[in-house]
Amino acid sequence: MNPSDAIARELVSEEKIRERVVGLAEQIQRDFSDSDLVVVGLLTGTLMFLADLVRKIDLPMRLDFIGVSSYRDGTESTELVFTKELRLDVRDRDVLLVDDILDTGKTLRAVISKLESMQPRKISTCVLLSKKARREYDIPADYVGFEIPNEFVVGYGLDHAEQHRNLPFIGALNVSS
Ligand code: IMP
Ligand code: MG
Repeated sequence: MNPSDAIARELVSEEKIRERVVGLAEQIQRDFSDSDLVVVGLLTGTLMFLADLVRKIDLPMRLDFIGVSSYRDGTESTELVFTKELRLDVRDRDVLLVDDILDTGKTLRAVISKLESMQPRKISTCVLLSKKARREYDIPADYVGFEIPNEFVVGYGLDHAEQHRNLPFIGALNVSS
């Protein structure tokens, strides 16, 4: 199949993403100006978002990753498995947890609970996308790039069965693909 047949339509353009990332970075830079900041990205979907975001934040920071995979049955998430542990000590530091998309909230809930046991001073969350209609857990999203409709999306790091992460924009997956 031609890769472009898998994408039903563009939902967020490269330009919109770029502008919004700058806006989020400005907000974060203001809010964390006096912090001992550790940015924690969730693998693998935050790859591009995180790379673009942190380059726009002019603050001292540490950067680390947690690997978490939800084994998926089609587009529905099932079991959560940690695939990479945090290396940095976050005790008494301000953690900014970054994920690609907040869907049911299951992933962030599990990661926040893991981080809490490491006794950071504060945990804030930043997600590029949020699908409010799908929320099952009440997760505070402090910084949200875009609220999107209840559709499965790919691109700019987000995948479907590990495909389409390299698309430069965010597109809705063609459901028949
Ligand atoms: P949650 O645990 O249900 O909130 O799902 C969050 C995780 O599921 C994200 O980190 C994504 O990896 C994945 N996910 C949820 N919705 C989508 C989507 O529309 N496209 C791609 N990945 C998604
Ligand atoms: Mg993810």
